[in-house]
Amino acid sequence: MGGDNKPSGPDLKAGIPESDLADGAIVLGQADGEAVLLTRRGGEIFAIGATCTHYSGPLAEGVIDGDVVRCPWHHACFSLRTGEALHAPAFAPVSCWRVERSGGRVYVREKLEPSEKMQPATARPAATSPQQIVLLGGGAAGFAAAEMLRREGFGGKVVMLSADESAPYDRPNLSKDYLSGNAPEEWIPLRGPEFYQENGIELVLGATATAIDTKGRRVALADGRSYAFDRLLIATGAEPVKLPIPGAELPHVRTLRSLADSRALVERAKASRHAVVIGASFIGLEVAAALRHRGLDVHVVAPEQRPMEKVLGPQFGDFVRSLHEQHGVHFHLGRKPGSINAKQVTLDDGSTLAADLVVIGVGVRPRLELAEKAGLTVDRGIVVNEQLETSVPGIFAAGDVARWPDHYSGEKLRIEHWVVAERQGQVAALNMLGRGERFAAAPFFWSQHYDISIDYVGHAAQWDRLDIDGDMAAHDVAVRYRKNGRTMAVAVIFRGEESLKAEIAMEHGISP
Ligand SMILES: Cc1cc2nc3c(=O)[nH]c(=O)nc-3n(C[C@H](O)[C@H](O)[C@H](O)COP(=O)(O)OP(=O)(O)OC[C@H]3O[C@@H](n4cnc5c(N)ncnc54)[C@H](O)[C@@H]3O)c2cc1C
Ligand code: FES
Repeated sequence: MGGDNKPSGPDLKAGIPESDLADGAIVLGQADGEAVLLTRRGGEIFAIGATCTHYSGPLAEGVIDGDVVRCPWHHACFSLRTGEALHAPAFAPVSCWRVERSGGRVYVREKLEPSEKMQPATARPAATSPQQIVLLGGGAAGFAAAEMLRREGFGGKVVMLSADESAPYDRPNLSKDYLSGNAPEEWIPLRGPEFYQENGIELVLGATATAIDTKGRRVALADGRSYAFDRLLIATGAEPVKLPIPGAELPHVRTLRSLADSRALVERAKASRHAVVIGASFIGLEVAAALRHRGLDVHVVAPEQRPMEKVLGPQFGDFVRSLHEQHGVHFHLGRKPGSINAKQVTLDDGSTLAADLVVIGVGVRPRLELAEKAGLTVDRGIVVNEQLETSVPGIFAAGDVARWPDHYSGEKLRIEHWVVAERQGQVAALNMLGRGERFAAAPFFWSQHYDISIDYVGHAAQWDRLDIDGDMAAHDVAVRYRKNGRTMAVAVIFRGEESLKAEIAMEHGISP
């Protein structure tokens, strides 16, 4: 998953001619043995680390917007001034260097102190409200919120309650490199245990919340414990939809949401030869790719005629199908499973597929019960305002559970994307501290199939026109999903810059 960003290009400590650095241009060079991005914005010149702290993406191939550089891989944003990772999915800053101009040349001098604003828990005592913040959920949004609270110097109590037995981890990896055996276990946690200790984040694992008392300001757990809060973030995510067919509860029939699920799948896969994946959407197909990588015979069963057509359109659907077929996946489209037994899956036309492993990936359902029971406004998601606050003041929601007013589309959206959940966690954290920030990020997700990543910005539930620029088969394409003359979403393969420019345009309210 890491990029190959070995330092290359000019030695920036020896300087380069100022004329080589046009306004807005990026020069990739090196200093102190590290890849460094040098850029000019008007009269100012910046030098920061060129390697993204998420998965080591090449920042010099990203896009600069104001004094921020965005990573071409998964759109993390870094400040050119301080190196701070302003927006997820990266959290750690990149280094910064002092720059000097002299005799018509630009020199990169010494490295500056890290801008890490992260403060120990006691750094800035919360003299005023809030004193204690409870984060309900230890996934994408919960983790990002905890990190941001401490980065912003919040000195009160932070409790993270998670039903999961594992500390926050890289969930998207569970259906990709981790499942296929390409990512070692140590890549999976978002941070090691010392992070929570050093930052005074009380991480309570295996803790299932059963009720939120909005008046008494407490969260109750199944084991009888309860936690007081004066600000609460609900980030309980979603759970896989179960299939109501005979045999769906057999031990070799699995779903994939948690690290424990992925570990169990890996163990099963090691002892299996024939896998049937039910569902041809993102997770189903990523699982199919990972299991092929492990050498299993893989059949995908789904009722639609083309995989992913509803989200990406027919052309991408055909492309994705053929990509998987080239890797040996067999499709049974227009078909539903009727029943499962220990040896096979029987389809609705009576045909059978041998299976010693069955993975069901037919979508997820947001976990809304706690919010409903607590009397929060729920409408196919926990309804939040643009600051991500629910109908009860002081209670926020983020990630897969939240339905928020999207400023670009003018619609209320609830979206199941990793980066959206993390960025919402970050904005919710700022707003729990009273910052009054609007959540204005354009939704972004990526989906990995073999060596191809499909990157998607915006949200197009429907479209009346679909514009294709480039050649999908050559893995160089941008597809625009348009409605009433406006581009609602852009999906690309290997066009990171175009994807970033579309994201920036949407954030400025401009149709890309
Ligand atoms: C295998 C897989 C691959 C994915 N790949 C991608 C991808 O490539 N790109 C992409 O954009 N998105 C991807 N997603 C989707 C993405 O992971 C989710 O959108 C994201 O994790 C949502 O974050 P969240 O914080 O809302 O919820 P989650 O990350 O699911 O976290 C929810 C947390 O709440 C806890 N919880 C739930 N109920 C309770 C309770 N009652 N009490 C206490 N704790 C509770 C859970 O244990 C968990 O810790 C993938 C998802 C999966 C499962
Ligand atoms: S590698 Fe930069 S955002 Fe993922």
